[in-house]
Amino acid sequence: MTKFTLDDYRYFLKDYIRKKVDFTETDQNRGVPAPPLEKPFPQDAARIDLPPPEEIIPQFCVPLGAAVAARQSHRKYTDKPLALNELAFLLWATQGVRKVVHNMCTLRTVPSAGARHAFETYIYVRSVEHLAEGIYRYLPLEHELLFLFSTDNFPNELSAACLDQSFVGHAACVFFWAALPYRMEWRYDLASAKVIALDAGHICQNLYLAAEAMDAGVCAIAAYDQEGIDALLGLDGKDEFVVYLAAAGKKLESK
Ligand SMILES: Cc1cc2nc3c(=O)[nH]c(=O)nc-3n(C[C@H](O)[C@H](O)[C@H](O)COP(=O)(O)O)c2cc1C
Repeated sequence: MTKFTLDDYRYFLKDYIRKKVDFTETDQNRGVPAPPLEKPFPQDAARIDLPPPEEIIPQFCVPLGAAVAARQSHRKYTDKPLALNELAFLLWATQGVRKVVHNMCTLRTVPSAGARHAFETYIYVRSVEHLAEGIYRYLPLEHELLFLFSTDNFPNELSAACLDQSFVGHAACVFFWAALPYRMEWRYDLASAKVIALDAGHICQNLYLAAEAMDAGVCAIAAYDQEGIDALLGLDGKDEFVVYLAAAGKKLESK
């Protein structure tokens, strides 16, 4: 394996790469068709309607200042399931689409470099009303859930893949943000990795804040076994791989 130095890793945080990329040669500028805004799925796949944004937004209005002030990481959850409208709100808050622009890009509830939105959201549902336990994918364009597969013994496997962070297996649901890097590289080529990582932070922050509207708690997770987590979700680990996770559930200390 290549030996990287501390300076190599720090380089990633800086923006020198922008001066090195010939942006006239990116796939976008060479006229290569843009990748799909959302990962395709079989049209006959099982899909679950979610309560629409106009219905759920009014149910979760809390003062923004209070939500920001209260935000903290929670690693202890009750056994109370999340309601479907609560999960719908969390999904909409993290990746909901505000506008599709000329079928070329989406504007969402979170910002993204160049509006490329290179993430897909996978969800492990352990305890959400009206949903069977299993792995789902959020379809932001449709605001629906795509059922992927049922799970067995998943909390244990998931906790193990999160380097034995056992609280993950007790969450009502776990969000996995998987990057499809080409969605960003199509436009930014080698200058994509940093902005993908920055985008992930915005997504998770919205999850933290949205959870404050429903007595739910969230904990971000960036310590995990890459191959183990990708394998649990059936991702190829090359063109699609998990970058960030978060556990969510009703706060143990909530009234
Ligand atoms: C990028 C990132 C990665 C994190 N990874 C983990 C993790 O793997 N496990 C964990 O228990 N907490 C994790 N956290 C939560 C932090 O430990 C937490 O944000 C920090 O201790 C500050 O506490 P607060 O969020 O309550 O303010 C992570 C937070 C961030 C922002």
